[in-house]
Amino acid sequence: MKHLYDDKTIRVWIAQDSDYKFILQLCKQYRDFEFFYVPDESLKYEIQKGNIIAFDYNVFEAGYIWVTFPKNFKSRINQLAVDRELWRKKVGSTVIKVYEQLANKAGMWGSYLTCNTNTPGNDFWPTVGYKEIGRKEGLHRKGFNLIWGKLLSNSNNLLFKPMVTDIKSVESYVNQSSISVSVRRKKEEAIIQQGIFLF
Ligand SMILES: CC(C)(COP(=O)(O)OP(=O)(O)OC[C@H]1O[C@@H](n2cnc3c(N)ncnc32)[C@H](O)[C@@H]1OP(=O)(O)O)[C@@H](O)C(=O)NCCC(=O)NCCS
Repeated sequence: MKHLYDDKTIRVWIAQDSDYKFILQLCKQYRDFEFFYVPDESLKYEIQKGNIIAFDYNVFEAGYIWVTFPKNFKSRINQLAVDRELWRKKVGSTVIKVYEQLANKAGMWGSYLTCNTNTPGNDFWPTVGYKEIGRKEGLHRKGFNLIWGKLLSNSNNLLFKPMVTDIKSVESYVNQSSISVSVRRKKEEAIIQQGIFLF
């Protein structure tokens, strides 16, 4: 298999059908984390679409990152999960670098995600250059759901240099696939009532 990255300790590749079992199992471990409650089938589908990147650490399956590269060139990180046993070994930071290289190649100028303040991600994202661009009260884990954003190197080539805040926060809620349909509908209605329109 061709690896996107291999430093002899960490190897990163586009997830294949054979990675599904591990990815699903890890996702289930973090189900009580705000954004990890997704139907099993959606992970299978996202693997088939090439949206999930898997990685290992020595011989251990280490985790996955589920991303999208949409037509508006703002890439979304849906989930990043590193096996608990392997936390604080720079696996997450290494994988984010690999993801950003892919995002740059795909022409993305910005990257964003939503993360609850009561998860380790809250301390992690600022260390890889993400800035807070918005927050809302959390549902499952209380605290706040922060929207983190980062400009990628393509943003330098744009005629008007965007700000991190140009990565609109409402979008991540409307498209958030890990919340239930009814919750999403309520959020959409609230957004429309507030007169905030998507672009
Ligand atoms: C968040 C997560 C991906 C971080 O992965 P990781 O491989 O442990 O991260 P790294 O080792 O690259 O950490 C880089 C830096 O981020 C910070 N950091 C990461 N995890 C941290 C934690 N639990 N507590 C405090 N700081 C943390 C530290 O500054 C760390 O550097 P240091 O270890 O030299 O101090 C991992 O903890 C995880 O999968 N958590 C469960 C799922 C989750 O919360 N995902 C993000 C949801 S949005």
